[in-house]
Amino acid sequence: MLFLFLLLSLTDGAEAQRVFGLKKDDSCICEVNSTVWMFPALKYESVLQQIHTCEASLSNLQQQVALSRQRLPQMEAQVVEVWKRLQPHQYLQHQGLYTELTLRQLDHELQQLETHIRELHKQLNNTDTHTLYTQVDKLRSDVIRMQTSDSVNMKTVREKLRLLKNNVESCKSIPADYRGVDRYCLKGLIRSISDPVTTKVVPQGKSYISGSWGKQAQMSSEVQKNLYWVQPLLSSHIWTNMLRVYQTYQDFMSSSNHRDFTVASSYSDPSAVEGPGGVLYGEALYYHCYRSAEVCRYDLNTRRVHRVALPGAGFNNKFPYCYYDCRSNSDVDVEADETGLWALYATVGNHGNLAASRLVWDAEAESLNVTQTWRTRLFKKAASNAFMACGVLYATRYVDEHREEVFYAFDTATGREDNSLALPLEKIAKGVSSVSYNPTNRQIYMYNDGYLLAYQAHY
Ligand SMILES: *[C@@H]1O[C@H](CO)[C@@H](O)[C@H](O)[C@H]1NC(C)=O
Ligand SMILES: *[C@@H]1O[C@H](CO)[C@@H](O)[C@H](O)[C@H]1NC(C)=O
Ligand SMILES: *[C@@H]1O[C@H](CO)[C@@H](O)[C@H](O)[C@H]1NC(C)=O
Repeated sequence: MLFLFLLLSLTDGAEAQRVFGLKKDDSCICEVNSTVWMFPALKYESVLQQIHTCEASLSNLQQQVALSRQRLPQMEAQVVEVWKRLQPHQYLQHQGLYTELTLRQLDHELQQLETHIRELHKQLNNTDTHTLYTQVDKLRSDVIRMQTSDSVNMKTVREKLRLLKNNVESCKSIPADYRGVDRYCLKGLIRSISDPVTTKVVPQGKSYISGSWGKQAQMSSEVQKNLYWVQPLLSSHIWTNMLRVYQTYQDFMSSSNHRDFTVASSYSDPSAVEGPGGVLYGEALYYHCYRSAEVCRYDLNTRRVHRVALPGAGFNNKFPYCYYDCRSNSDVDVEADETGLWALYATVGNHGNLAASRLVWDAEAESLNVTQTWRTRLFKKAASNAFMACGVLYATRYVDEHREEVFYAFDTATGREDNSLALPLEKIAKGVSSVSYNPTNRQIYMYNDGYLLAYQAHY
């Protein structure tokens, strides 16, 4: 036994463990290697001295071994844990769904959100912000749990993150009396839509099957109050640089006394119009600018163009409206309602689902700004078109050659979704290139292949 102690004190920790393992069967050591027997004889003197300190060394060693015995299983468990943690990632990576990068992005987004909410809470300090604060806290622990164990739930967490982000955007609007002064908006969703109240062939000709049209949509605009406008896409049904404006409804209906504006010098100018998404709001036309993720504002008075980027917006026909038939390059759709101006589009970050950004024209700073963004769960390509009314996003789909229907609503004030709607819109031709709501008269304008249709919305 003494020799064993010596041997232990002379060997390092790792070897000691190995020897300890053999302790039960001492004879083994003797048989393993005879030179071990020779060695202590030569250094007997010094060894004798060491014996005195041996007991201390032994207890030290025993402690180390004991510690190792404790720690090793712990470390092994950790390795198993890490491996387990990696497994779902590897699985997800094989599936091409999520990567480590996604996790980090998620974490980053969460941090931003936390900062956001903290600021918001400081400003507002109400029950809503408090709830958000608590929710974000909970989400954070979810993410941490996910990082350490089960990242298959990533989808759930992402979904929670989306909802929280929407809540933050909604919260931001509350102080500004979001719903506006329009009582009918408080009644809820659009209840029904009339048969067409206006039917007209596109003035430039029925062959222009893509474009947009309507009545000037800013409620407070006095000067441009009754302007009607139409904008067929003259090049490949995708681009144009022209806007036709009529001073009155009568002029529009009789296609007389029009005024044409040249928005850009050519169809391929950076300020040219792309896709059927434009809207005349106040004294400016807002539209998706040529081959970009930007919204342009063309001022009818100054004829100057300002632009703003929609972060992450898909363009060049990446996320067009697609239900039944894709409408070429309908990636970015500008809309107006009682609450202001909106851009509807899809981003890769939101998995191609519709997002709605609030646009604000800052006349003083001469700057077009994106102030808020909501993300829906509706895949943009699964809708034939979309519009905004009373802060609610409505999406349409194809029913048959003569009917389109509103089937989905997303309320930006509450973040609630409803995909059980069935509000029919009668149409003349099969294809729909644009559907827009107008808050000044609560009419819905459709560019239906070569026809222009208007409907009355009822709340
Ligand atoms: C005994 O051990 C020594 C040193 O570890 C080694 O060099 C030698 O080959 C071993 N002898 C036998 C018989 O295993
Ligand atoms: C919110 O208001 C309460 C009292 O109304 C106050 O105690 C609290 O510190 C405030 N929180 C923040 C973040 O300002
Ligand atoms: C719009 O953005 C500009 C430039 O970033 C900024 O100076 C201005 O205050 C913003 N206006 C609004 C209303 O957010």
